[in-house]
Amino acid sequence: MKEIIISPSILTADFLNLGSEINKVENSGAKWVHLDVMDGQFVENISFGPKIIKDISSKSSLFCDIHLMVENPKHLFKFFAEAGSDCITIHSEATKDLKGDLEAIKKLGIKCGVSINPNTPVSEIVSVLDLVDLVLIMGVVPGFGGQSLIPKTLEKVEELEQIKKARTYKVSIDGGVKLENIKQIKDKGIDVVVVGSAFFNSDNQKKLVKDLIEA
Ligand code: DX5
Ligand code: ZN
Repeated sequence: MKEIIISPSILTADFLNLGSEINKVENSGAKWVHLDVMDGQFVENISFGPKIIKDISSKSSLFCDIHLMVENPKHLFKFFAEAGSDCITIHSEATKDLKGDLEAIKKLGIKCGVSINPNTPVSEIVSVLDLVDLVLIMGVVPGFGGQSLIPKTLEKVEELEQIKKARTYKVSIDGGVKLENIKQIKDKGIDVVVVGSAFFNSDNQKKLVKDLIEA
């Protein structure tokens, strides 16, 4: 079985000690860090912006996996690219020009991804699958960490793995991932798992990452 990538989300990290929280991600053996940007419009909540990403990317070698939960995000791409993002993922529900937005991200020389909410079918993004590097399936309604994975969303992981064929995108799942359900998720053929509360609530992150990879 292929080795999955673990992308810890800092949403539930202690922001007053962000430096040491990022060290925890690096020391855990995870190669990616998932950065959830929320605008208070596309989702109810507000989180953080490019400055945090700049500080993280300049002090760590982690792959910066940016998840933009932002309505009409186009004007922000350059700020996030300059901040050191390695991949910017946008929501299909948040833009009227999904293809144009994804092309705009690529033009900045970084990877692009598309995300879909639990109620959005894969058919909504089929037309951009040749363009994207990452497909982020939301396992929960976005906005908050610590929710439970909606099992039905895993059917979309399977669907995307089946239609992948010659394409090169990775399939990721975000929300409610933990040791208790990782096996079920891996059985669908996932490439990347976002782990937020389960990572930061763990007292042995290195073991957690190892157990998630080896499960
Ligand atoms: C939800 C965010 C997720 C979330 C994951 O809107 O996109 O990345 O922080 O956290 P857990 O793993 O706690 O569901
Ligand atoms: Zn996320």
